[in-house]
Amino acid sequence: MKNVTLLGSTGSIGRNSCEVLRRLRMDFRISGIAAGENLDLLGKQIEEFEPEVIAVKSEKGAAELRQRFPGKRIYAGPQGLLAVIGDPVPDCLIVAINGTDALAATLQAITAGTRICLANKETLVAAGDLINERLATSYAELIPVDSEQSAIFQCLGAAPFGRVKRIILTASGGPFFRDERDFRTITPREAMAHPVWSMGTKITIDSATLMNKALEVIEAHHLFGRPEEEIDVLIHPQSVIHSMVEFVDGSILAQLSVPDMKLPILYSLTYPERQETGMDRLDFEKLRQMEFYGVDENRFPSINLARQVLRTGKNAGAVFNTANEEAVAAFLAGRIDFPGIARLVEEILAITRFHPLHSLDDVLETIRETRIRTQEKLQGEIQK
Ligand SMILES: NC(=O)c1ccc[n+]([C@@H]2O[C@H](COP(=O)([O-])OP(=O)(O)OC[C@H]3O[C@@H](n4cnc5c(N)ncnc54)[C@H](OP(=O)(O)O)[C@@H]3O)[C@@H](O)[C@H]2O)c1
Repeated sequence: MKNVTLLGSTGSIGRNSCEVLRRLRMDFRISGIAAGENLDLLGKQIEEFEPEVIAVKSEKGAAELRQRFPGKRIYAGPQGLLAVIGDPVPDCLIVAINGTDALAATLQAITAGTRICLANKETLVAAGDLINERLATSYAELIPVDSEQSAIFQCLGAAPFGRVKRIILTASGGPFFRDERDFRTITPREAMAHPVWSMGTKITIDSATLMNKALEVIEAHHLFGRPEEEIDVLIHPQSVIHSMVEFVDGSILAQLSVPDMKLPILYSLTYPERQETGMDRLDFEKLRQMEFYGVDENRFPSINLARQVLRTGKNAGAVFNTANEEAVAAFLAGRIDFPGIARLVEEILAITRFHPLHSLDDVLETIRETRIRTQEKLQGEIQK
């Protein structure tokens, strides 16, 4: 029986993880769980999975849960995320918190030699070099959960590093890739209507701007060690091919399945084994066709921004990710229009002086400074 700690249990990936773990009850149990503010759902999950240790975002939330679950160890805030993976130290840690709040916990799990099933992409984008540096001296395994990265991980198998020609990241294209209208008229509500995936708010907006794919280009670079010119992006609206790897001899391997996040979550837990769980199967006769398109870089400038970030290195990933988080929040609050998201990120990259990241504190300081700089820029634009 393996112990699993699930960070972000009440979100889209967290709920899918619970469903996977429900089917794997014979082999895995949730020993630790953490969520933000959705105490109703977290309470139900505690009743069902009976974890020993629990963390929530606020002290108020923790106090409420302590009353409801008197025998449990319940923590709050950033320290809570560290406590929940400290005792018991899990065999597997699923990181399904959005943003960079789980960065310290991820680094702690690397030190502890844990298998990390990483759904969160912002962490790698912001601190990929630091994470890889720590992984190099640890027994920890980082298994991607993001469906594209899981596909690449599966296609690469044991292929020697030098035999890979390029990685082809597929993208559904989001709701607007065929849309000819003026992007300034797009509303948050329209941007939230993703054609294939049902996900959390931030990643859904990122999918509409293709920022999600831009983050994945950076994520793939850190996970698989390829330079940006060996990572291509291809729009594939059916989202059945989750990504591909081309080898030096011209062979291409692709990973296909129904679009369902439960599959990469399952694989990250059972790797290198595969387990039967009764999930939906791909029916090629119903699928009928698969389409592929290049990215229109004028309408979707985010991929090029990611390439610029990778060429810059240093703390550019942390700046890029933070500026995007602030820009998405500003778009949702009606402060900027849809094309304004990529424009704001580009402006922040243009005015930042970059420096290397040596520690968690360096990353957190970059995030703090970039939030302030982005807010000042937003304030300036609005007053113009
Ligand atoms: N959704 C997908 O299909 C998908 C696919 C690939 C990758 N990802 C990545 O996976 C991550 C999660 O995405 P999501 O769509 O599942 O997001 P989501 O639905 O917004 O869920 C986020 C989860 O994190 C929790 N949380 C946020 N801040 C926290 C904190 N400080 N302490 C403890 N818990 C906290 C939230 O708790 P409350 O809700 O209780 O506040 C919620 O459980 C993101 O990095 C995303 O890019 C998602």
